[in-house]
Amino acid sequence: MDPDRWTTHNPSGTTRVVVTKELPGRRWLEILTAADCRVEVSSSHTLLPTEAIAEAIGDDCGAAIGQLTEPWREELLGQLRRAGGRVYSNYAVGYDNVDVAAATGLGLPVGNTPGVLTETTAQLAVALTFTAARRIAEGDAFTREGRFAESGWLPTLLLGKLLWRRTLGIVGAGRIGAAYARMMVEGHKMDLVYYDLYPNEALEAYVADYSSLLEAHGEPPVTCTRADSMDEVLAAADVVSVHTVLDETTRHLFGAAQFETMKPDAIFVNSSRGPLHDEAALVRHCRAYPDFYAALDVYEDEPQTAPGLAELPNVVLAPHLGSATSWTREGMAVLAATNAVAVLRGRPIWGRPDVTPFLGDDPPAAAPSIVNADELGLPRSTDE
Ligand code: DGY
Repeated sequence: MDPDRWTTHNPSGTTRVVVTKELPGRRWLEILTAADCRVEVSSSHTLLPTEAIAEAIGDDCGAAIGQLTEPWREELLGQLRRAGGRVYSNYAVGYDNVDVAAATGLGLPVGNTPGVLTETTAQLAVALTFTAARRIAEGDAFTREGRFAESGWLPTLLLGKLLWRRTLGIVGAGRIGAAYARMMVEGHKMDLVYYDLYPNEALEAYVADYSSLLEAHGEPPVTCTRADSMDEVLAAADVVSVHTVLDETTRHLFGAAQFETMKPDAIFVNSSRGPLHDEAALVRHCRAYPDFYAALDVYEDEPQTAPGLAELPNVVLAPHLGSATSWTREGMAVLAATNAVAVLRGRPIWGRPDVTPFLGDDPPAAAPSIVNADELGLPRSTDE
């Protein structure tokens, strides 16, 4: 362990907690130090090799707070357990980087940070959608390169797509998908068609109420349809945004056949997880269909992008910024630290989806979110 790259806070604390990246805000650190933790934080701004994390855990570590970019699988989780670790806390809502079954086998609770990313990630998906629809990235390059100064305003310059009153397709209508759908439907009066294994009745009711409001104002209604198949969404929608979890059933959910099923001038948005799409197939599709747009925040082999992707004008690329607002990232840090401390202190698991009480001045004495709580038989808080 290179001491220059690790900062120790509260060195006299009795429980060692390893944090593999600096986190935003101060509150998360106060939560850990107030719980008598000695907190060792890596100041590395590059990916830490697994061996470096294992070395940092060493043979005495009560908890680790890690990143979605790190493989928290048997090797690291086993190291943490052998070091006396009692909890692994993932600084993300998604936990496809964690072998939860292995953690459960080791008796290790796994924390995540739901609830504070919903509107922020949905907002980023909206931003990506309109960056593609209105060709903002191409316009930015055009302006910076001095080409606008040469051409001036032109009737035919960078004509984009008006999404108002068009059809929005959502694959995965969980929290983030539904928040994105509401922003798009309400803001742009789009019809919604979604595919999800489970109906989202709250979303359907929301669109129905909004539609009634439009009609009450003498405007045409909007519709919400739960499709029987994903193909139905792909064929109908002008924009298809994916919001599913990544697991073995959803890997390459979007490949050549799915892109072919979409309209030739559709927009594909992925702000969830890169391996949900086959990136080589996406590159081929975008090359073959210049009016088709892809707007991506995540990549199949992140942080690498597939060969050819970055050269395509009909592709918008962001560096996994979905949750990147100060409020959300500080909230995630608070939840990650609270998960660790609550398990170390033997506190119950929060029983409600709303985690905002943890961000207030009088947080509940519970762990906000432990994904394998039921498998481990951990008690739920009865706190109302
Ligand atoms: C998460 O928390 O899973 C997000 O991808 C981070 O932005």
